[in-house]
Amino acid sequence: MSKVLSSVVDAIGNTPLVRLDRLTEAYGVEGTILAKLEYLNPGFSKKDRAARGIIDDAERSGALRPGQTVVELTSGNMGAGLAIVCGIRGYPFVAVMSRGNSDERARMMRALGAEVVLVEQLPTSVTGQVSGSDLELVDRAAQRITTERGAFRVDQFHRDGNWVSHYLTTGPELWEATEGKIDGFADFLGSGGTYTGITRALKELKPDVQCYVVEPEGAAVAAGQAVTNPEHPIQGGGYAIPDLQFLRGVPIDGFVQISGHDAKRTARALAVREGIFGGFSAGANVAAALRLLAGEMSGKVIAVVICDSGLKYLSTDLWE
Ligand SMILES: Cc1ncc(COP(=O)(O)O)c(C=O)c1O
Repeated sequence: MSKVLSSVVDAIGNTPLVRLDRLTEAYGVEGTILAKLEYLNPGFSKKDRAARGIIDDAERSGALRPGQTVVELTSGNMGAGLAIVCGIRGYPFVAVMSRGNSDERARMMRALGAEVVLVEQLPTSVTGQVSGSDLELVDRAAQRITTERGAFRVDQFHRDGNWVSHYLTTGPELWEATEGKIDGFADFLGSGGTYTGITRALKELKPDVQCYVVEPEGAAVAAGQAVTNPEHPIQGGGYAIPDLQFLRGVPIDGFVQISGHDAKRTARALAVREGIFGGFSAGANVAAALRLLAGEMSGKVIAVVICDSGLKYLSTDLWE
């Protein structure tokens, strides 16, 4: 019975790593893109890892008491992961999300037993395009609910369990699958947990691995650019938050900016050419890797994460 898992929480991680040779050939670039299929996690995204990481830490430190309510701001993926982990471990979970995120996400979290509180966007915002200012409103609502209910706030932008989960699992998995034959890594920032965890893990093992931060065109604050387009369509990140906590002191070898159009076009190409059905940010990551192979990383091996499933965006213009 050693291969039988005691709950679905143990099915988080150890996702497949796939060569995107059909895509690189179609784009006529030299080198290899390796895609880590994080949409095959139980909540259909990489955020299952961060959810488990933060809850594990909080249980260990005593910050989370048995049966205590858990609250988090989410664009849907962290919420799905938390709904699963909290459901299995007996914590009521409240997900606080902007109404600008796709409806599938709220429905999925409810199906997994979460209470979902939707926060209206600013009057100037666009559905499907959650800006940093929209996120501030969601954050305020999450803070209020946490106080009212005496809850544990997951706080994925600040609690180290987020990036440490990638440092302990995703990074080493990339290293083992490639047997160290990996030259670069590119990642679209939300909290920066994935970038930080994987970069720290890979750089410890191979200091000259080249790690690139991916941001939306017009919202590239980490690259030091002015924010001209906070309402981009790449859901899950690109919030133009200056000075992300996890990124402090973490090496960045370069920056890539991807337009919403390019992220969508690449996500569609990924589905058609590779049979990999990812979301907007997966498209942004792969678009960045293609651009790097067309330029300074030509001939190299670059890893990216397919952050979540395309099924989460069926109601959006990604798959019109
Ligand atoms: C779809 C998607 N892409 C990218 C990200 C950004 O990941 P991170 O918060 O680890 O930077 C998230 C985070 O929630 C996400 O849900």
